[in-house]
Amino acid sequence: MTDPLRNLPAGIGRVLFTEAALRQRVNELGAQISRDYIGLDPLVVGVLKGVMFFMSDLLRAITVPVSVDFMAISRYQSGSGAKGPVRLTKDLEDPVEGRHVLFIEDVIDTGLTLSYLLRNLRVRDPLSLEVCALFDKPQQRIAQIPLRYRGFELPDRFVVGYGLDYREAYRHLPYVAEL
Ligand code: IMP
Ligand code: MG
Repeated sequence: MTDPLRNLPAGIGRVLFTEAALRQRVNELGAQISRDYIGLDPLVVGVLKGVMFFMSDLLRAITVPVSVDFMAISRYQSGSGAKGPVRLTKDLEDPVEGRHVLFIEDVIDTGLTLSYLLRNLRVRDPLSLEVCALFDKPQQRIAQIPLRYRGFELPDRFVVGYGLDYREAYRHLPYVAEL
């Protein structure tokens, strides 16, 4: 359903990042990563599903050779609606021992999801482990995350689009908007 007055989908608020703004920042991140990883043949790991558009645009902005893999997680939702523990539902295909791993996330909020994944990967002895997140929402941070590359800082608001969902809706929007 479309809101006929604004030509935006129902439930969508203010557009915070247009396609052009996202493209420009993602290209900058890709250039930065390309400079930092010359000769390192990094393994770029995306966390599904929210990362899909960011990851595909970022990879196309990276000019050094990379390998690509994905992890997927699901979170048990507690009765109160609070975020529950994380469970790995898809693991990497190959070992990361001796590899330079670059983790790609859509949003870091409390940091609990990513700290679980980072702990899980650290014990597999990668040569290095860095994090690139499109959005950083520092206000609710519980677990400290070593964030090497950050697209944008966000206030404590829920946003959707460009891969980010609300209950699986709105992922397909090419821009990022408030809910
Ligand atoms: P954290 O574990 O609290 O850091 O939550 C991170 C995960 O929550 C992200 O990977 C997203 O899947 C989801 N998330 C956090 N904030 C938002 C948002 O504003 N929009 C959509 N998903 C979000
Ligand atoms: Mg996510």
